[in-house]
Amino acid sequence: MQRFDLKDGGVPSRERAITAAVAALDRGRLVAVPTETVYGLAADATNAPAVAGIYAAKGRPSFNPLIAHVCDIDMAMAHGILSPLARQLAGTFWPGPLTLVVPRRVGAEASVASIADLVTAGLETIALRMPANGVTLDVIRRLGRPIAAPSANRSGGISATSADDVIAELGPSVSVVLDDGASPVGVESTIVLLAEAAPRLLRPGGVPREAIERAIGQPLADNDHEPDDPQRPLAPGMLTSHYAPNARVRLDVTALEPGEAFLGFGPFFPEGLDKAVASANLSATGNVVEAACNLFRLLRELDRSGAAAIAVAPVPGGGLAEAIRDRLGRAAAPRR
Ligand code: TXA
Ligand code: MG
Repeated sequence: MQRFDLKDGGVPSRERAITAAVAALDRGRLVAVPTETVYGLAADATNAPAVAGIYAAKGRPSFNPLIAHVCDIDMAMAHGILSPLARQLAGTFWPGPLTLVVPRRVGAEASVASIADLVTAGLETIALRMPANGVTLDVIRRLGRPIAAPSANRSGGISATSADDVIAELGPSVSVVLDDGASPVGVESTIVLLAEAAPRLLRPGGVPREAIERAIGQPLADNDHEPDDPQRPLAPGMLTSHYAPNARVRLDVTALEPGEAFLGFGPFFPEGLDKAVASANLSATGNVVEAACNLFRLLRELDRSGAAAIAVAPVPGGGLAEAIRDRLGRAAAPRR
């Protein structure tokens, strides 16, 4: 495995990293790429065996489709049918933490390699996103094709927000790791379905629901999907149990039980805090942007304390708090 440090490197090391990543993708290998949300485990989206390698490395159910990451709107339009509303959202929020699920474009131009069916898990829609990371955008541009990339963690586990997390989760499966430091947003992209009469929020994430509703001047419908029903794979990744540490997770605590670690938010001190096995705060000032950025790192850190359970303070409010509550709710859900 080759690891490239992009944080303090100059232009030559950036170039070497991009060249190595593109060469690996071109040969059908897996590359860990930084994005503004979390690290991705990437393959050439047009190379079916390479995409199969993502599912194998993650232990991911093959009915759970992947996001195709593009470097610009033209590349998105080559593989998906973007309505005026989709184009408006892309124009407003790309590059950035917004994924658009749109009808797949079938019979694209002959000069355009088509996306492997495994990426979309056989659905008639495709999830498209342009991430806000300059190096990853350059990799996609140089490859000339979209990359399929789920979060770089084992299926069901905590997402990776640093290169060290990726290597701990998936090291042996990855040919190249592009280390661009901690992921600044810290929770995955917001996913909006644009293949029905009204736009629907499939997954809350890095772009707050309110910002999208303001941009399009209409409310987003809620996800009414039965989460664990593989027969109806509208957003199959919305599995109830996900983002799970080894420890159990208990939400909205007011009092700690023996043997628990504590994950706080703001100036909130539950009963029994002095007996906590370990403790950390998502944001001492109760700032939800900071809390999202710290969420997965602190879940991993508290999990390493060996506590039987992680007790989490309430995380109230709008904006990114919706995505944080979504991730914590799945981390706390009964395990499969
Ligand atoms: O921020 C992100 O979105 C990160 C970074 C790496 O870009 N990626 C990510 O991928 O979170 P993943 O695979 O962990 O989550 C993608 C979600 C899954 O829940 C999947 O079911 C859903 O997107 N998805 C993909 N294609 C879909 C489609 N055609 N229809 C509905 N949901 C889809
Ligand atoms: Mg994931």
